[in-house]
Amino acid sequence: MKVETTPIEGQKPGTSGLRKKTRVFMQPGYLENFIQATFDAIGGGAGKKLVVGGDGRFFNKQAIQIILKMAAANGVSEAIVGQDGILSTPAASHLIRLNKADGGFILSASHNPGGIDEDFGVKFNGQNGGPAPENLTAKIFEATCAINEYHVIESDDIDLNSVGTTRQGDMQVHVVDPVNSYQDLMESLFDFDAIRTMFAGGFTMCFDAMHAVTGPYATAILEGALGAKSGTVINGVPLEDFGKGHPDPNPIWAKTLMDLMMSDASPDIGAASDGDGDRNMIVGRGAYVTPSDSLAILAANAHLAPAYAGGLTGIARSMPTSAASDRVAEKLGIGSFETPTGWKFFGNLLDADKVTICGEESAGTGSNHVREKDGLWAVLLWLNILAVRKQSVLEIVKDHWETYGRDYYSRYDFEAVETDKANTLVDGLRAQLPDLSGQKFSSLTVTHADEFSYLDPVDGSISKNQGIRISFEGGGRAVFRLSGTGTQGATLRLYLEQFSGDDLSRETQDSLSDVLSAALTISDMKNIIGRTEPDVIT
Ligand code: G6P
Ligand code: ZN
Repeated sequence: MKVETTPIEGQKPGTSGLRKKTRVFMQPGYLENFIQATFDAIGGGAGKKLVVGGDGRFFNKQAIQIILKMAAANGVSEAIVGQDGILSTPAASHLIRLNKADGGFILSASHNPGGIDEDFGVKFNGQNGGPAPENLTAKIFEATCAINEYHVIESDDIDLNSVGTTRQGDMQVHVVDPVNSYQDLMESLFDFDAIRTMFAGGFTMCFDAMHAVTGPYATAILEGALGAKSGTVINGVPLEDFGKGHPDPNPIWAKTLMDLMMSDASPDIGAASDGDGDRNMIVGRGAYVTPSDSLAILAANAHLAPAYAGGLTGIARSMPTSAASDRVAEKLGIGSFETPTGWKFFGNLLDADKVTICGEESAGTGSNHVREKDGLWAVLLWLNILAVRKQSVLEIVKDHWETYGRDYYSRYDFEAVETDKANTLVDGLRAQLPDLSGQKFSSLTVTHADEFSYLDPVDGSISKNQGIRISFEGGGRAVFRLSGTGTQGATLRLYLEQFSGDDLSRETQDSLSDVLSAALTISDMKNIIGRTEPDVIT
């Protein structure tokens, strides 16, 4: 059936798909327009095979039923759907690749809270299992502006609760266990025997699934296959509102876990993942590992896991991520790449085998095993490294700093800033760029300042305006960027970094104070947005 519709404003995908308030998505035609626009942008659905699933948040199941009816009406021949509508983002990416599907819809707003008054999102991933690249998201957006009808069949909902094959219209639907094939993949990458032996020897862990999608995955893999004691996974049942929490694995939102790890009762390792299972947080006994350090440490030790024993081809990081991993790449004599924020930029590098491991300051790490970042993968690689090195997390981190030096790092988020003011601040910085080099602010001299622009070495595409970066003499750097994942006003991010080759045990905020005050002065933040106190510091 064809349904007439008109374009709806604002359906422009951001850093990671289209993210809006749930009620916005629930408006009649809103989801339908975006899904139809995606079909239009990929040349229609006829004969295609798609993967569909989400992180279980409020509206997940209803959205899946709508998408299946639309897929059937658009001629899709086969759909693979996670049981109960559940698929973590990395598991969805794997299913696309494993089944040689043409792509997939992933329903999630990642680490944003869920519920009728919170956030929802839709993302299209392509044949390689990775998020749609910018040229495709641009086409989708164009299609949302030109849409005049969408296709949907009139039919009952299908049963998502039981595994098996059924039909929606003429389309075959396979409802699959969301964990099985992902678990097989993890077993093929890591030394499960070594990790099992470590747990059997008394190694302890706390994994906080934050009432989000990794609950079933972590329970099956950590407590099931690897023999971690029952209760290792906490908050392991996915809830539509994530237990009213903020499923973002960082020291602020995973505070219970952080408190445990800083206490006398701390297990050997703490870890957490986000709403859709692609982010990770790693904490040792008394030691939070920054995502930038985690990327560097994983890259430096990856050869200890079977899948990476042959070495890495290269390492990629997003621009605001610290330079720690660059030093590892240099030592290994392999390529290192700096991309804009957004996992989609790693896809081409991974497909062309220029890099094996990628990571971002925003708690994402992953490898060429899928085309998304992968929270549990990072946790399992850490466990594999710990099992082989037989050292504590803290010993491994300290050893890394002694070898490579330390990148003190922190991110300040200023949320719900009025969009105009945020733009004024960025415009002001941009205008100063040509004259900043050589100027001194709070005892720091600027050595380089520019606006990051990325030339993709694989397809030659250029992405401009990807953040303002200011480097200082002595290894300091400040980066300003507007988030592409917020759903309210603008979120201004200020990323602070200070390298030190030998001063390894300072307090992080203290070691960043000069870079911070220079950044606040240069941006004139107090006057422009009216505050200098961030909402969240990670
Ligand atoms: C999502 C993307 C990441 C990105 C992060 C922060 O998780 O998958 O690639 O780093 O959002 O993006 P933002 O634009 O909010 O800084
Ligand atoms: Zn996520």
